[in-house]
Amino acid sequence: MDTGELQSEIRKLLKEKNAVLLAHYYQAGEIQDIADFLGDSLALSMEAARTDAEVIVFAGVRFMAESAAILSPDKTVLLPVAAAGCPLADTISREQLEEARLEHPEAAVVTYVNSSAETKALSDICCTSSNAVKVVQSMDAPEILMIPDGNLARYTSRFTDTPIIPWEGSCPVHQGLSVEDIERLRKARPGAPLAVHPECSPEVIDISDFTGSTSGIIEFCGKTDARTIIIGTEMGIFHQLQKLYPGKVFVPASDSLVCRDMKLTSLADVYNALLEMRYVITVPEEVRASAHRALSRMLEIV
Ligand code: 13P
Ligand code: SF4
Repeated sequence: MDTGELQSEIRKLLKEKNAVLLAHYYQAGEIQDIADFLGDSLALSMEAARTDAEVIVFAGVRFMAESAAILSPDKTVLLPVAAAGCPLADTISREQLEEARLEHPEAAVVTYVNSSAETKALSDICCTSSNAVKVVQSMDAPEILMIPDGNLARYTSRFTDTPIIPWEGSCPVHQGLSVEDIERLRKARPGAPLAVHPECSPEVIDISDFTGSTSGIIEFCGKTDARTIIIGTEMGIFHQLQKLYPGKVFVPASDSLVCRDMKLTSLADVYNALLEMRYVITVPEEVRASAHRALSRMLEIV
């Protein structure tokens, strides 16, 4: 089947199975184009919590599908590629978090959604890159242990007086972006603003014109008067940027901004997932109930 045929077969199957296709901005353009809902991690988890469909097909990575299963336990959640994970989420295990909690008994634990269900279950509240500042500002605790992304923790600490203890995990895609990459580009594109994700290093954030989630970056690109914008996040975002703002020029801050896990999913995988109802993502009930508490506490304040 060619791309168009696969897309229409997927749409047919979605209807037949009372299913919705949720896709993250980092997915391939041909998947984004047929999604029922396209968004950043926060918008996707909100949609997963409110959908009436019986089946959720998650075009993204495992932690996103797990969050959908935690929020909507009565739905069947499918992740088209079982191996699509997130190296950042893997930087902390349940055991490591248990130890960190013992070391910092007074700290509230704020956990980025890019994490396992088991670590969410041990957390006080979750956050995403679009609400991390709001979540942290809502906490009434002497200190905050923020996991697993050290850069997001350091970025968030700029907006609160509460001491934040960062877990030193990072996203290999965003962490890899260097000040030198940007300086080189800026010479070739003088005056072009730089929009970056908060998973980037503090040095990169310091020289950016805007820092925000994928949705935040898309919004910034719409609002700025600049015609050329340098983008410091994963390449998948370019598909929407070019569709939404065809008159503007978007330049990747580096050619290495590609998330291998996000790119594992093809249109054929989405089709096969629906045809064979695979791979069903479930979370054991005792983990799910506690993780649900942390996720829904986040959703209450955004
Ligand atoms: P968003 O919170 O912008 O969706 O980003 C998710 C992610 O995986 C960033 O690397
Ligand atoms: Fe994980 Fe980074 Fe990929 Fe996002 S871009 S899914 S944080 S590895």
